Amino acid sequence: PLAHEADLVVFGGTGDLSMRKLLPALFHSDLEGRLAPQTRIIAMSRGGLDDADFRGKVDSEVRQSVPDESEAWQRFLGRLHHVSVDVGGDDTSGWAALTRLLAGHEQRDRVFYLASPPMTFGPFCRDLHGAGLITPQSRVVLEKPLGRDLASSQLINAEVGRYFAEEQIFRIDHYLGKETVQNLLVLRFANAFLEPIWNSLWIDHVQITAAESVGTPGRRGYYDHAGALRDMVQNHLLQLLTLTAMEPPARNDREAIRDEKVKVLQALRPIVGDEVSRFTVRGQYDGYLDEPSSTPPTELSKRVETFTAIRAEVKNWRWSGVPFYLRTGKRMPYRRSEIVIQFKDVPHAIFPGGSPNRLVIRLQPEEGIELHIMAKEPGAGEVTLKPVPLKLSFGQTFTARVPEAYERLLSDVLAGNPTLFMRRDEVEAAWRWIDPILEAWESSSELPEPYPGGTTGPAGAHELLGRSGRAWHEEE
Ligand code: BG6
Repeated sequence: PLAHEADLVVFGGTGDLSMRKLLPALFHSDLEGRLAPQTRIIAMSRGGLDDADFRGKVDSEVRQSVPDESEAWQRFLGRLHHVSVDVGGDDTSGWAALTRLLAGHEQRDRVFYLASPPMTFGPFCRDLHGAGLITPQSRVVLEKPLGRDLASSQLINAEVGRYFAEEQIFRIDHYLGKETVQNLLVLRFANAFLEPIWNSLWIDHVQITAAESVGTPGRRGYYDHAGALRDMVQNHLLQLLTLTAMEPPARNDREAIRDEKVKVLQALRPIVGDEVSRFTVRGQYDGYLDEPSSTPPTELSKRVETFTAIRAEVKNWRWSGVPFYLRTGKRMPYRRSEIVIQFKDVPHAIFPGGSPNRLVIRLQPEEGIELHIMAKEPGAGEVTLKPVPLKLSFGQTFTARVPEAYERLLSDVLAGNPTLFMRRDEVEAAWRWIDPILEAWESSSELPEPYPGGTTGPAGAHELLGRSGRAWHEEE
């Protein structure tokens, strides 16, 4: 279908996210004909730039990361505008400039993308409302983190909700835009063979890992206040958990899917009090305090976790007794995100040397699905077993370019489809489970366990599984 004409206003439009992710994603959409000819992209920032300055900045900073198509690039640059703004301040000239730019285009779809810190979401929406810029065709996109705990996220949701209806609010979790994450739903609900064994009778445990080899250089200002639990678990890892654990929805429909996801979050067994030290691990890589940054390390820096591992449980009929192990960290030996379904062993082994089946759903770097099955090694002697992967590599099977997560999500926002965005109750249910862990960590006198950069985290992360005879999945 032909895309609607839209005005996409990006607040924080000259920031890192915009330059590294949003603008390249929009250029790809443009290149593939998914932006209507009149669609405009309006960056707002404190920067004091005019349209020409902003186009020059994008030309020098973004062009090298996108395909070299000069005609399309010139057309794309022509869509860009810049408005300087003082949010919540006394200087209203920016709002007047935005109003002039949008005037006469009230029938277009309007998307306000807030790629700025969460405390600006409320004031921004209030100012938009004050300037009379919110039309029935308007949507607002909220970047994570949505608050820093349940109370602050409720506050933000309530403030934004004063000016926008829930159907107009798109809360981004870019993991939901990843190709393999959407494929997880297809794997589970478009294939019959998995469903009968997708439960505690057949599955021993689940592992969800998002490992990164990068550290946090230049991000201390943000990261000290976030930490791995807020930065990755509350959103990305819990989203993966919900998609893995949810019941089959009756329809491929925005509310049906989100309803099932919320139920999983509500079924998470709270980890409270002294259970926190048994079921969660915090780590910090050696050298975190020495990372280059514009802000010097503080007491907070010493306490922040760059790694965490958690043993979660979904208390419902399907999953009771199946641990869901979550782990994420910076400065690990590799960049890899995956979901591992570890099946139970055969009920009665007649061959020596077997090991239980395992399904690995790889999100990145190479998207794919691997089922490890036991096979007999060829030979005339004794039967020797070997686990062999049945592999589906998306890169090898499909030749189409895999779009970046943001590309998919921006197209969905422009099309008004919120299925891959988090509903208010989902975000709040996730915080409700995270809060007691945060509180216990914050009131603890212990610091995170140190781990050397380039390793798979502190010893505690291995003990978390090791004490029940399990181990984290590593590449053979
Ligand atoms: C972001 C976090 O949400 O996700 C970053 O703020 C993290 O700290 C990033 O590096 C990881 O995303 P991806 O797509 O590279 O796995």
